[in-house]
Amino acid sequence: MVKVNLGGCSSFVNDADYKEYLAKALDAFDVLENETGAGNDFLGWKHLPSETPESLISECEAVKDAWTAKGVDLVVVIGIGGSYLGARCAIEALSHNFAKQLAGKKEAPEVVFAGNNLSEEYLAELMDLVAQRNVATVVISKSGTTTEPAVAFRIVKEYIEKTYSDASERIVAITDASKGALKTLSTQEGYKTFVVPDNVGGRYSVLTPVGLLPIVLAGFDVREMLAGAAEMEKALAVKGGENEAVKYAAMRNLLYSKLGKKIEVLVSYNPKFQYLGEWWKQLYGESEGKDLKGIFPASVNFTTDLHSMGQFIQDGDRVLFETVVNVEKSNRTVIIGSDPQNLDQLNYLAGKNVEHCNAMAQLGTKLAHIDGGVPQIEVSIERIDAFNLGGLFYFFEFACGLSAYVLGINPFNQPGVEAYKKNMFALLEKPGYEEQTKAIKARL
Ligand code: PA5
Repeated sequence: MVKVNLGGCSSFVNDADYKEYLAKALDAFDVLENETGAGNDFLGWKHLPSETPESLISECEAVKDAWTAKGVDLVVVIGIGGSYLGARCAIEALSHNFAKQLAGKKEAPEVVFAGNNLSEEYLAELMDLVAQRNVATVVISKSGTTTEPAVAFRIVKEYIEKTYSDASERIVAITDASKGALKTLSTQEGYKTFVVPDNVGGRYSVLTPVGLLPIVLAGFDVREMLAGAAEMEKALAVKGGENEAVKYAAMRNLLYSKLGKKIEVLVSYNPKFQYLGEWWKQLYGESEGKDLKGIFPASVNFTTDLHSMGQFIQDGDRVLFETVVNVEKSNRTVIIGSDPQNLDQLNYLAGKNVEHCNAMAQLGTKLAHIDGGVPQIEVSIERIDAFNLGGLFYFFEFACGLSAYVLGINPFNQPGVEAYKKNMFALLEKPGYEEQTKAIKARL
């Protein structure tokens, strides 16, 4: 269960202001729950945890079983933005930190990601790996027309078709139910397909097949993830000042609007959560950053980044606040030993576990940053596992919808993403863009 602690903001805000923003967040709650706000045809994510049928999970497992039977040991997951960040976040969070290097038989194929950039070196090096392994691919694009995944898929598909007689059985597409180039190709080639529901946008899609299939393929328990999300779905459906998402939405909007804290830094103290930061940045950045408004979402990993970004957070321009993802319990124990010579002078820590040091670093940093003028929101989970991660996904999605409505923004569109695409298509001389090509060339 996700818990929000606003104690680290109390010296920055007064009760009256918090009450004002709590009231705004409660109004936003009504808008989200009654489905009366902008973008309300994209609210399918709200009931995914409780309504995902067991048959969908079994279908994902059937793909895993079929590929295991073929000896597949590498799955290339192709997608960008909301079509890959949730899966990547979950797989990184739930994997052993050194899964690749550990000896022994692997229980699941290795999952790697592609189609999330246009780097030629990245693709060439991906193909170096692909050439050494037994490969299958999952291509994910709701629109079915996004350039980055389309380019990567063309290359991986060509390789699979040249290499395997059962090529079409090694390709699964996750896309719209009826439209788009990927849907057309899948029907023509007979690929197994999964549907991205019409009423779920990319960045809210981690609990659809977009996230579930790659997570299943990587060997993790999506039933537990959905159960954790379902618990949050139930908890967050209760209106009130103690609703954890309402509290978070109220405080971050208060810090932004009244105190000019325009940057929110998502902090974690566990390297496994690096991609939680990437997923969260996309969710909040694409949902809120429009109409010349929005909190700029950034992320850091402490204590690593205390030795890089820590200086700015402590002493730089006072425009930011932190949201710390607090993990209460470590899944592993490492005790610091005693050393008779004590040359490193660490014997005062002998007998303590490393997570105790991490917790004290976290507390010391909290106090230092508050002293330095950085308010801190704490979002706690018990431990890093599939159940809690599911809860965290749902919590941040729900709170994002609320927050954007407090700001007066449609959380479910992304009109700004089109601008670069138009220029890129014009520069690449895509048919149909002749006028833009002429205009853009005149500017260069
Ligand atoms: O959140 C979103 O809607 C976007 O980030 C999309 O997921 C991203 O642009 C990829 O789109 P598509 O799945 O259509 O290829």
